[in-house]
Amino acid sequence: MIRSSALLLSLSSLLPSALAVSGLLTDRSQVSGQTFDYVIVGGGLGGLVVANRLSENPDTTVLVIEAGSDNRDDPRVYDPYQYSVAFNTELDWNWPSSQGRYIKGGKTLGGSTSINGLAQTRGQKAQYDSLSTFLGGNDGNGYWNWDGMYFGMLKSEGFSAPNDQQKDAGASSNPAYHNTSGPLQVTYPDEIFHGPQQKYFKEVVSTNFSVAASPDADDGNANVVAFHPNTMSWQDSDHRSSSATAYYSPVSERSNLAILLQHQATKIQFDGNKATGIEFGTSGGDRYTVNAGKEVIVSAGAIQTPALLQLSGVGDPALLNNLGINLVANVSGVGKNLQEQTMNSVGWTPVDGFDFEGRGPSDCIAYPDLLGISSSSNNDIASIISDNIAQYAQDAYDAGAVVSVEAANAIFAIQQGLMVNNNSGLVEAFFDSGFPNGGLGIDLWQLLPFSRGTVQITSTDPFTYPSIDPRYFAADVDLKIQIAGLRMARKIFQTAPLRSIVTEENAPGYDAVPENGDGGSDDDWSKWIIDGFSSVHHPIATCSMMSEELGGVVGADLKVYNTESLRIVDASVLPIQFSAHLSATLYGLAENAADM
Ligand SMILES: Cc1cc2nc3c(=O)[nH]c(=O)nc-3n(C[C@H](O)[C@H](O)[C@H](O)COP(=O)(O)OP(=O)(O)OC[C@H]3O[C@@H](n4cnc5c(N)ncnc54)[C@H](O)[C@@H]3O)c2cc1C
Ligand SMILES: *[C@@H]1O[C@H](CO)[C@@H](O)[C@H](O)[C@H]1NC(C)=O
Ligand SMILES: *[C@@H]1O[C@H](CO)[C@@H](O)[C@H](O)[C@H]1NC(C)=O
Ligand SMILES: *[C@@H]1O[C@H](CO)[C@@H](O)[C@H](O)[C@H]1NC(C)=O
Ligand SMILES: *[C@@H]1O[C@H](CO)[C@@H](O)[C@H](O)[C@H]1NC(C)=O
Repeated sequence: MIRSSALLLSLSSLLPSALAVSGLLTDRSQVSGQTFDYVIVGGGLGGLVVANRLSENPDTTVLVIEAGSDNRDDPRVYDPYQYSVAFNTELDWNWPSSQGRYIKGGKTLGGSTSINGLAQTRGQKAQYDSLSTFLGGNDGNGYWNWDGMYFGMLKSEGFSAPNDQQKDAGASSNPAYHNTSGPLQVTYPDEIFHGPQQKYFKEVVSTNFSVAASPDADDGNANVVAFHPNTMSWQDSDHRSSSATAYYSPVSERSNLAILLQHQATKIQFDGNKATGIEFGTSGGDRYTVNAGKEVIVSAGAIQTPALLQLSGVGDPALLNNLGINLVANVSGVGKNLQEQTMNSVGWTPVDGFDFEGRGPSDCIAYPDLLGISSSSNNDIASIISDNIAQYAQDAYDAGAVVSVEAANAIFAIQQGLMVNNNSGLVEAFFDSGFPNGGLGIDLWQLLPFSRGTVQITSTDPFTYPSIDPRYFAADVDLKIQIAGLRMARKIFQTAPLRSIVTEENAPGYDAVPENGDGGSDDDWSKWIIDGFSSVHHPIATCSMMSEELGGVVGADLKVYNTESLRIVDASVLPIQFSAHLSATLYGLAENAADM
């Protein structure tokens, strides 16, 4: 008797977390008024990586607040072969942006990793090294350079090398660049496309377009054409591996980790400039609060994170003043520096009876750098940049998209160095079996825009979407690069052996963009691009990790300037686009954030 009550006593004093709630919740009364060590806003990529790693310590209590539901069992989420059916549903924020373009984002456990295209790619070494340059040379004790980010990306990765059938189809990997034991499952589709098309694409691009073929592009030399794996489960046949399945499912039993679903954070609460908790609620409903004993971590993504900061009084005093919001912290970079990419697809009709053999996602991608893009276009991209860079800086400032002309000049100089001197891929050419028009295609986007835009709240109602203006093509070199890439895409299809398996171009087609013997004129391409481009759904940089002089919002420790106990871990802190899809880089960034 005495022994067991003593045991009970010591257990309860050792386990304060036993008093807190845990698991997936929808009942806010279990959370309202409680205190957790960490309150995380957003159960997407950044939020769930950090929640997993912080709750490894059983004495640390963690609450995640997620606006969406848990849809891990919904085929629109777990089945990669249904990519895009989640769009325009309750699983998608579907934010309107300028020029009538919508930006998609996952509103469900796992965030955008639950609805994304599953491509797993890393960027160019120099791009990771530039992270410390944006911080005035501070590499955050080694996290913010290639070595540190490579370490973080490897920590997240659970790779399974291609099997014989996948190798036959063209896939290859170098085990030196992969980790097989991290949480995120990374492999190739079981029924990977094994018709000739992907191999032909790789052959043509590397033989005729000055882009080297690589057996594995994951070592920081990404300006190549290569087969890339997918964030797909090799344990659970071809199901999507998201931040929810990789970072939450295995630890869902932890008694110190709770996730409140179907509730939106509406404001960060402050005592002076110290973040003390989160106010949350549902549209039209009452507001509740929860306290953060140690820190508030915002991981709501590059659109909603700056909006939440602005609603809470952290941002540009002029914007907050207009809306009658009390200033908590003067951080004028919040919502500025927005960078989004633009996509168009070139499509060709396969010859009669052509069989793709297998099913997607497609795997073969080219990242032509300056040399690669110059192989099929007379536009002198390097000169266009150097001739116009000062004007881009002035224009970005005039549009309220950067904090000063000096800051924009400094930011653009780093970007110019990466594009002109450090071999960063300028466009992504994603070879697509089955799209557009059910044929063969190349989805093409300009990777590193000089156009800078804004995310700004227009109302104090947290359920009203912010105004989003990426200022697509504000910098004319963005359009010139998009043209050069699309011209290259057309020429790739015109080249044997790829030419032998297609009949004619169906998008845009030679009627819309006449073939002039050199892949089409700038004017014709330009009209078609502006008319039909879409967003790539890769918004970033609205709370950039940069020095304060450059208009940064967080420093090397990811803490928001001029505040205490408030960090950001999501795509909004990336100061510049990478020549890659975003998630591999963001998993690395989030692992590093949790480590620190
Ligand atoms: C359609 C699409 C296709 C993509 N394809 C690829 C691809 O093939 N490969 C790749 O690497 N990347 C791809 N991406 C990009 C990648 O998935 C994202 O960049 C990444 O998930 C962003 O991570 P995050 O943590 O910033 O935000 P998210 O993962 O989007 O997470 C943010 C979370 O916060 C929640 N939230 C927002 N506001 C609030 C609030 N106020 N209160 C509570 N919760 C809130 C959201 O519901 C969401 O769950 C794609 C993205 C999209 C949308
Ligand atoms: C980019 O190239 C320039 C010139 O070659 C070099 O000085 C600079 O260090 C490089 N930047 C990075 C981030 O590697
Ligand atoms: C692989 O992942 C595990 C789990 O995240 C990690 O402990 C290990 O350090 C990683 N290995 C490498 C080489 O990064
Ligand atoms: C592509 O390169 C090969 C090898 O150099 C060459 O034989 C072929 O003519 C080239 N094709 C075109 C269209 O230039
Ligand atoms: C906000 O900070 C900027 C830059 O430091 C400064 O110029 C401005 O006067 C400040 N505004 C307010 C209202 O504090």
